Amino acid sequence: MSVAELIRARRSIRKYNSTPVDQELVVELLRKANRLQPFAEAGSWRVVYAGTPEARKRLVDYMLEQMSQSRLGKLIPGKLLDIFKKRFTDIPAHLIVMSNLGPDRLTNDRNYAAACGMMQSFQLIGWEHGLGMLWDTEAMMLHEGFFKGIGMREDERFVGVLHIGYYDKAPRSRKRTPAEQKWTVLRGQSI
Ligand SMILES: Cc1cc2nc3c(=O)[nH]c(=O)nc-3n(C[C@H](O)[C@H](O)[C@H](O)COP(=O)(O)O)c2cc1C
Repeated sequence: MSVAELIRARRSIRKYNSTPVDQELVVELLRKANRLQPFAEAGSWRVVYAGTPEARKRLVDYMLEQMSQSRLGKLIPGKLLDIFKKRFTDIPAHLIVMSNLGPDRLTNDRNYAAACGMMQSFQLIGWEHGLGMLWDTEAMMLHEGFFKGIGMREDERFVGVLHIGYYDKAPRSRKRTPAEQKWTVLRGQSI
């Protein structure tokens, strides 16, 4: 498959089958994705990996900590919460990506962008191996308890969680906004 075809074919996967994901494969894909970086400064990002059932359960508990302790969360029936937790825990692997804050805004943004670029390459290379992923940045999980649980440091910025697994069926593509609609030509004269 050409790179252009790969980019077009890759879909966000939200439903995974139970085939286990090999941690070694994840490391290998990460290495390859990193090598594709146009600029890769050592230490500009790092990842935390949750691949065992115990680690996945811990991660889900961190994610849901704030919601389950909130007034609204306490109204959610325990059974429903368990179903939700099981759905997450059943996902074979999670890769949490953090970028380094750096001394100034530009460095922060560069490191964040480098991490995003790496994540997209990682998703694409993973797709070639039959792996589906979802890039998750849901506000519900972004709270102190979660950041503390995953060991995020003060000099780090959360980028996203990639949920990873094999899938049986890929969904259809969503409609894209044509590039021309995001296009402005700067002219020599003001109008
Ligand atoms: C930066 C970024 C953040 C995202 N955050 C979420 C998210 O929080 N929840 C979610 O369901 N999907 C999230 N996604 C996945 C997008 O919704 C998905 O890429 C989009 O629907 C297009 O689908 P496709 O990847 O199949 O082309 C995110 C994607 C990106 C690039």
